[in-house]
Amino acid sequence: MTQTCQLHRRIEQKLEDRRQNNLHRQVYAFAHQHGSLLDEQGQKYINFSSNDYLGLASEPRLVQAWQEGLSRYSAGSTASPLVTGYSKPHAELESALSDWLGFEQAILFSSGFAANQAVLFSLLEKNDVLIQDKLNHASLMEAGMLSDAKMLRFPHNDVERLNAMLAANHTSSARFVVTEGVFSMDGDLAPLTAIKSRCEQANAWLMVDDAHGVGVLGEEGRGSCDFAGIKPDILIVTFGKAFGMMGAAVLCSKAVHDYLTQFARHYVYSTAMPPAQAHALLHALNSLRTDSWRREKLAELSNAFHEELSGISGVIETMTPIKPVVIGDVVKMQTISASLRELGYWAGAIRPPTVPVNTARLRATLSVNHRVEQVRKFASSVRTLLEMEDV
Ligand SMILES: Cc1ncc(COP(=O)(O)O)c(C=O)c1O
Repeated sequence: MTQTCQLHRRIEQKLEDRRQNNLHRQVYAFAHQHGSLLDEQGQKYINFSSNDYLGLASEPRLVQAWQEGLSRYSAGSTASPLVTGYSKPHAELESALSDWLGFEQAILFSSGFAANQAVLFSLLEKNDVLIQDKLNHASLMEAGMLSDAKMLRFPHNDVERLNAMLAANHTSSARFVVTEGVFSMDGDLAPLTAIKSRCEQANAWLMVDDAHGVGVLGEEGRGSCDFAGIKPDILIVTFGKAFGMMGAAVLCSKAVHDYLTQFARHYVYSTAMPPAQAHALLHALNSLRTDSWRREKLAELSNAFHEELSGISGVIETMTPIKPVVIGDVVKMQTISASLRELGYWAGAIRPPTVPVNTARLRATLSVNHRVEQVRKFASSVRTLLEMEDV
């Protein structure tokens, strides 16, 4: 058999395995309408699965800022940052981010995935020890596995185990601890105060990926670290969630900024984000900081959700807009998810390998675009379906 045939067979086999295990996924082409989704058949759903927590993605002032940015700076950045792709709006955005979050510098990346990989790949070397929460995002896990450092994973939010790993893994080289601020599939918070203090005692660096905390928690939406009253060595902020756009920034010291500028291949060898996007992100940042009513509304929606589902097993109470309903069995989860669709709701149906085996779940997310009554009706439908399925 030729090597090409082997590759075809392997691809078919892996796809078939996914189908057999009900784990095969597909994309849908939606039109977005202020918190609702329209599918290609014209069916409308209330969107309970977006990361647009603050409702900024459809905010007219932000759309206008993008358009203004395009008129001023044209469509693309035309090159990587170190060539000619870096311009005034990038510098303004970096400076506004570092002022807001209290770091010496910020450096922009085209996605959170790239930012996470860039930091781990470029900073860590052989003999370093990288310790990560087991539930960290795939971008962090993959970078850790492929990096030259020794990677260890501590059970989710288990500070004692983290401490034990730090104690058992002395090295003359660097030790680097990474956690999310708000966990993307669980909506819970990392115990950042305790983690930071253990890292300090052990002389290890702490990096927090706050993709889901920024904009949602803390004073002026500064995120999980501000909420916990700590400052990590490196903070990752992404723009695809509460900012309503896309891209990311690494907040760090001047030295780390310079180091990433020299050595981070995702930065050096990748086209800079369009300046119009950086311009629009500055507007998004302004709304995110000053529109505290958005965070207040999220809190109100969150209360309504939990009131409707109080005492229901599998529903995990969180203080973030991420509301996991753990069902366990993939087929049951798919049945409930399909019934929700028939009722006009689209909620994230998350299965392994995105979450651990036997923890398939609905990942319902709240957004400022929702009305309290909508959230109540949705939550009550979830309750009825859970009771019918006897989860
Ligand atoms: C915790 C976390 N980090 C990083 C990322 C990747 O960010 P981006 O979508 O900007 O690539 C995500 C995206 O889902 C995330 O949830």
